[in-house]
Amino acid sequence: MSDFRKFFPIFKQNPNIVYLDSGASAQKPDCVIKAMSEFYENTYSNIHRGLYAFSEKSSQIYDDVREKVAKFIGAKDSLEIIFTKGTTDSINLLASSIGRLLNKYDEIIVSEVEHHSNLLPWKNLEEVIGVKVKYLPVLDNKELDYDWLYKNISGKTKLVCVTGQSNVLGVKTDIKKIVEIAHNVGAKVLVDGAQLTVHSKVDVSDFDIDFYAFSGHKIYGPTGIGILYGKKDLLNKLPPYQFGGDMVESVSLDKVIFKSVPLRFEAGTPPIAEVVGLGSAIDFLQNIGMEKIEEKSLNLTRYLQSELLKIEGVKLLSHNNSNSIVSFVIDEISPFDIGLLLGQKGVCVRVGKHCAEPLHQRFGVDSSIRVSLGLYNDESDVDKFIDALKKILSMLR
Ligand code: ALA
Repeated sequence: MSDFRKFFPIFKQNPNIVYLDSGASAQKPDCVIKAMSEFYENTYSNIHRGLYAFSEKSSQIYDDVREKVAKFIGAKDSLEIIFTKGTTDSINLLASSIGRLLNKYDEIIVSEVEHHSNLLPWKNLEEVIGVKVKYLPVLDNKELDYDWLYKNISGKTKLVCVTGQSNVLGVKTDIKKIVEIAHNVGAKVLVDGAQLTVHSKVDVSDFDIDFYAFSGHKIYGPTGIGILYGKKDLLNKLPPYQFGGDMVESVSLDKVIFKSVPLRFEAGTPPIAEVVGLGSAIDFLQNIGMEKIEEKSLNLTRYLQSELLKIEGVKLLSHNNSNSIVSFVIDEISPFDIGLLLGQKGVCVRVGKHCAEPLHQRFGVDSSIRVSLGLYNDESDVDKFIDALKKILSMLR
């Protein structure tokens, strides 16, 4: 049994479940659940608004997690960390705000493998302000076409938007290469870290990333909380995109002065308890160590992939060197039939297009089955999945 499974109460209640859908959302360790319920039981109040002890303590805890997130991803300053609802919200924030500074002569480059969250906000800008969106192709070997980027980026390109690790191919992007090519022409880089952050050490300063987005719920934290990192000088140039309480210095009917970053991007009461849960999830990961997490994840992914490839008719959609994600199709059998039957046997995987339709179109596949791993998984989960899959195939073939 995985050394880490004991930390996840859901498996005590459901010992037979084979949870292989952490790419969609990870299960929660008891420390995260307890941190949130203890906060509600002992400390909870709104933040930055009250002069009483509960509010001051809640505010302090909230601000401390901002520091923790900054250190976790290598940001130089906690003021570069904006709390959002999740990766989708982070990217929409950036698109709405930066969209006010762009015009129809500007270009944005988005890769062909992106999750819809890092595609549709940019396509929307194309529709609303006429900015040109260009698509960075993926090669047959499942890697981005860096040469294409080198040849097609220009002074018109304002932003390059790429995933740090595809949610279907499972392969990491060469972020340093993208940043180097983009910065060479003065373009900025947004990295969608939704899948990457949980398995790999991320250092936004070392990678020189301009904007970085990720979600709490995929790193063993709660839903409803995410992060947008941005370099401070860039965030300072962006206009706020939502308006309300706690984001203004002063308001009169004639004049509004917004707070500086990050608070001017956090209008309204934020998800305070979720921030507490996120802080606990980061402690959980760091206590284990990101290097150890990545090694465990890579080893188990290789085992999963090799066991899967022993089954006749399996075709991998994911990259040969994917991390934590293995997606595939089997001959002409519908992924939905397989997913449904796996679900009936207590094996949880995701089937469909995984919010990455253009990627599926690129590889000529309508939909696929995706197995994604978490810290609680081990070889016995893979064996149970393979066994269930073989039984299903012998029934369907
Ligand atoms: N973005 C999540 C996934 O890839 C939901 O499954």
